[in-house]
Amino acid sequence: MTDTKDRVLIFDTTLRDGEQSPGATMSHAEKLEIAGLLDEMGVDIIEAGFPIASEGDFQAVSEIGKNAKNAVICGLARANLKDIDRCWEAVQHAKKPRIHTFIGTSPLHRAIPNLDQDQMADLIHQTVTHARNLCDNVQWSPMDATRTEEDYLKRVVEIAIKAGATTINIPDTVGYTAPVESADLIRMLIREVPGADEIIFATHCHNDLGMATANSLAAVEGGARQIECTINGLGERAGNTALEEVVMAMKVRGDIMPFETGIDTTKIMHISRRVAAVSGFAVQFNKAIVGKNAFAHESGIHQDGMLKNAETFEIMRPEDVGLSETSLVMGKHSGRAALRSKLKDLGFDLADNQLQDVFVRFKALADRKKEVYDEDLIALVSEQTADG
Ligand code: KIV
Ligand code: ZN
Repeated sequence: MTDTKDRVLIFDTTLRDGEQSPGATMSHAEKLEIAGLLDEMGVDIIEAGFPIASEGDFQAVSEIGKNAKNAVICGLARANLKDIDRCWEAVQHAKKPRIHTFIGTSPLHRAIPNLDQDQMADLIHQTVTHARNLCDNVQWSPMDATRTEEDYLKRVVEIAIKAGATTINIPDTVGYTAPVESADLIRMLIREVPGADEIIFATHCHNDLGMATANSLAAVEGGARQIECTINGLGERAGNTALEEVVMAMKVRGDIMPFETGIDTTKIMHISRRVAAVSGFAVQFNKAIVGKNAFAHESGIHQDGMLKNAETFEIMRPEDVGLSETSLVMGKHSGRAALRSKLKDLGFDLADNQLQDVFVRFKALADRKKEVYDEDLIALVSEQTADG
């Protein structure tokens, strides 16, 4: 294990790829709010939108760029000069602007504009050169890279680097790759493409097979130094890599993943809730890191362990992600120790025989109700004291 940790850049695309989820459209004011929170939490690059897509997207990218304090502000553009010019118009006022241009390079994607390999290679050269003439910070993505022939991928990555791209992003557009392959692909590109050591490789994973987080971390293992992700994993179909997952994985398992980010993790929970509220996409209860149950315990064994030592059943502290405390949910699996502790918090210090009586009634109630709330417990204790 090394003491010095390599820095991994966090590129958040909640406002671009995230917003592409059907139904997740955000208003102008909401986008500005989320961008402000991303900037504050230490995201390195914010992909603020797709300026040519609509006047609204253009205005949002432009204003986010003007307001940003630290983050690089990036806009997306397809591989044509008009898109790239519009993107530059939107990001140019940012302190740190970036143009991100892309084209689908796999056989399936090449068939759509009906370009052969050479024609597409020429287009990549022309568009990346154009972007670089406008902006010093250019990212290029071969969309569907993980289903692109390896030789062709190497060829176009080299062309983009020579044309001036400063970041090469390798998207797993349809969530098709697996961790071993994800690491190997980046490793191979760094090893075999001339000029690869002068630029940053990024990983951009989708979650169709539930492997986006694992694939992103594997790509970092292979040499990528930028992870593209969204808050809550928001994104088309099964979503993108979740920012909170990759960031916390590297923080908690720094022993085997010696990488660091600039993210203030205590801001995670707040931004997660705001993104859920403005996108209308609720976070599933058992979602890693930010789900309602991620720091909640109901079973007796777990609650007892937690009361003795939180590390028995939690690998991170709730405060590290911005939660004030772990929650012990009272239900039919809860035991006496948790009940005693909960009642103490509610101001009741019962003798053993009183506790036993409340416990029996609590279990009967918990069999009828999914969750027993504080008010239910207070009622049970009141009945018990009234009964004598
Ligand atoms: O998934 C993808 O390929 C993308 C590109 C535009 C980078 O979002
Ligand atoms: Zn994507």
